[in-house]
Amino acid sequence: MAEETLTITDNRTGRRYEVPIRDGAIAATELQKITADGPGSGLLSYDPAFLNTASCRSAITFIDGERSILRYRGYPVEELAERSTFLEVAYLLIHGELPDRGQHRDWVDAITHHTLLHENIKKLIDGFHHDAHPMGILVGTVGALSTFYPDAKDIFNSESRRLQILRLIAKMPTLAAFAARHAVGKPYAYPDNDLSYAGNFLNMMWKATELKYEPHPVLERALDVLLILHADHEQNCSTNVMRAVGSSHADPFSATAAAAAALYGPLHGGANEQVLRMLKEIGSVSRVPEYVQRVRSGQIRLMGFGHRVYKNYDPRAQIIKKVADDVLAVTGRSPLLDIALELERVALADDYFVKHRLYPNVDFYSGIIYAAIGFPVEMFPVLFAIGRTPGWLAQWQEGLLDPEQKIARPRQVYTGPAERHLPGVRAPTLTLPQRGRENLRK
Ligand code: CMC
Repeated sequence: MAEETLTITDNRTGRRYEVPIRDGAIAATELQKITADGPGSGLLSYDPAFLNTASCRSAITFIDGERSILRYRGYPVEELAERSTFLEVAYLLIHGELPDRGQHRDWVDAITHHTLLHENIKKLIDGFHHDAHPMGILVGTVGALSTFYPDAKDIFNSESRRLQILRLIAKMPTLAAFAARHAVGKPYAYPDNDLSYAGNFLNMMWKATELKYEPHPVLERALDVLLILHADHEQNCSTNVMRAVGSSHADPFSATAAAAAALYGPLHGGANEQVLRMLKEIGSVSRVPEYVQRVRSGQIRLMGFGHRVYKNYDPRAQIIKKVADDVLAVTGRSPLLDIALELERVALADDYFVKHRLYPNVDFYSGIIYAAIGFPVEMFPVLFAIGRTPGWLAQWQEGLLDPEQKIARPRQVYTGPAERHLPGVRAPTLTLPQRGRENLRK
């Protein structure tokens, strides 16, 4: 069998190096051994935006972007979306296995009993301006929870970690619903422990004066499936932030606030909001070709299209399309769906999209469902954050317990000025090692 190594010849020095290959990767630190100018001049790998750099070993989520495969802990997402609930999937992501009957009962019970917020959080939300974006409120309040639970700093205590994980999964929907109701000036609706995770969220969003809110079973299930589809997606932008903040041993509330902030951007979790705005801007099926032309000419991006990893159809988008049919059968057909379907049809036949291998991603159809259920567009990224929370936490915990991990601290290729001095200051004489890589490269 061929050896699992890579031989590198440094043409600057003529020296040859043997680098071990493990699991299809070479350790970037091996490159440090390749030096041309003495100490401190070891080769770096340069990879802005991590296009081809694995930052961790992970046993949580598998993606094959060429073959449209997404699996959580080995289970195809299609099977989980069909047969599981969001809380089962959350358990799976965190623990590595699906719960048995007793574990499931205890897990659901524990999450249900952690949904309440400290009353002071309500005061905090009251302090936001009436038109504050709910994602901004979520980022602020989930970070603030860290001050309510100082025990969360005990990150190497497994019992403490379990408690914070329960709190975070339980309280995210409450924070989200309170943020939404703040915007419309409605009194906050408290959690109802009789309802499912998704059903309770609908209750906290829309309960009015009725004694008991009864979620529509189709909408409740649709929301649960959407949360499953968003639950994890290996090393995406926000998860990378979660791990990076966690690597400094910050508490999980602070790390989740940072991850949610990363998710907020329109290139990531904010894309679903942009898709709906885009569909409204297009306005009618007849204007689709003109819009696609603007994308082709580079004026705009087609939101909800394209992915760093998927170079084929995003498997989540396939499932969401089916869920959209179920939801719209209840709520009535949306003209936005017709525009989206036409946009997809035109784009997939267009050579720009074919050449760039751009397909609909998870955000393309999710907004149509959210809008049909009645969520305001500003809530779309918030819904993404609720779904992604178990994934963030599973990844945070995995990173924390991984003996190969340290504080995340990338290197850089310095491109600024070489050493210089203020007028009148004489240059100190530095020895070669002190001057380091910067001057050696000049
Ligand atoms: N519309 C038009 N052109 C696009 C698009 C798009 N949506 N996405 C990528 N391209 C083009 C881009 O212009 C570039 O072309 P060229 O090589 O000719 O300059 C090429 O495709 C590669 O693009 P990139 O920006 O280098 O690709 P990336 O892997 O860095 O970006 C992305 C991935 C998701 C940020 C990007 O596809 C995008 O901006 N999509 C729209 C926003 C969106 O839908 N985001 C949600 C992603 S899925 C949910 C999530 O995980 O957050």
